Amino acid sequence: MCPAMHDVHAFLSNWMRSLDMAVAVDAIGNLHGVYPGRKQNSERRLLIGSHLDTVPNAGAFDGVVGVVLGIALVQALDAERLPFAIEIIGFSEEEGVRFNTPFLGSRGLIGRVDDNLLGRTDEMGITISDAIREFGLDPSVSRKALLPSGAFAYLEFHIEQGPILEHLGQPLGVVKTIAGQSRYSITFIGAANHAGTTPMSLRRDALAGAAEWITMVEAEANSIANLVATVGSIKSEPRAGNVIPGFVAATLDLRHAEDEIRRNMASELLDEADQIAGRRKLGFCAESCLDQSAVGMDSALVYALQRAALKAGCDAPLMTSGAGHDAMIMAEKIPSVMMFIRSPGGISHHADESVLVGDVELAVSAGMHFLKELATE
Ligand code: HGY
Ligand code: MN
Ligand code: MN
Repeated sequence: MCPAMHDVHAFLSNWMRSLDMAVAVDAIGNLHGVYPGRKQNSERRLLIGSHLDTVPNAGAFDGVVGVVLGIALVQALDAERLPFAIEIIGFSEEEGVRFNTPFLGSRGLIGRVDDNLLGRTDEMGITISDAIREFGLDPSVSRKALLPSGAFAYLEFHIEQGPILEHLGQPLGVVKTIAGQSRYSITFIGAANHAGTTPMSLRRDALAGAAEWITMVEAEANSIANLVATVGSIKSEPRAGNVIPGFVAATLDLRHAEDEIRRNMASELLDEADQIAGRRKLGFCAESCLDQSAVGMDSALVYALQRAALKAGCDAPLMTSGAGHDAMIMAEKIPSVMMFIRSPGGISHHADESVLVGDVELAVSAGMHFLKELATE
């Protein structure tokens, strides 16, 4: 919901309008384009989408390639109408960077946005409600579920963002499960003081305490197979070289395919932080910003998408996604499925993120086979 997003919406809206699609932006900033089916107001609707927001210094494909691919599929239909409408969705705020709360757009679409969520603030103290208003939308409408009644399935194309498809020499994959994730805001509170006159034994150094905890987070994550833990952001105050840091705000991001393992590790890491704070006479608090369970994709759609990939000449492996996606939110309401596109070098959330044009062409071809199979059922 920043000014640049208006430009993205304008560019994609022009492209969709040129394909006779009806275009709108909903109350939480999702972009929608509807390509009608054979019957003008055909109720049944296939949703194809992904997110348009990015992490800072991101690459050019995470999220947006799934929206562009959806529009390319409509273009490839070349004005042919199917027995169902196709709705392309460009979700807002999937990454959760600004408010440390992901999936806002897709949660808005399924009616999971409430006042508590709208009241969350960014680093400048701007609430999600304010951001929606500043973007030119009405936050009071964002609570209503906007999922079109005839939506029968959700398809998301996305870059893998990891090394597996490249390692297997495969251009495409099909996601079977999306790992669950926990996100926390962590605070350590000590005492700012003079760096030159305060003896080490009299310090309550919040940054030294956080550093001890962060190295422990890494060690614990290394001890559990397939668990990943990241302290991605840390801010200390007063951030002066000659002042002992009295305050630290950090984030914790935990992922695992098994919810119980993830949740047990979360409480263990928070206990450890509490003990470290106790030993160092620091204050400590943790706020849960997300506890998202692992989600299975719809098996009938998974195998239909695998068949479609095969018709496109690709033996797409079934995969677990370590990254979260809007599909895990949509799956709460409608059968959902994801197709992964190979990430050269396994690089993502970085400007060097890329795709191979040939792989994207294969994804379009697989997508067309998928549409044709759905159209015959
Ligand atoms: O962080 C993630 O899981 C994804 O990139 N939104
Ligand atoms: Mn993404
Ligand atoms: Mn991402």
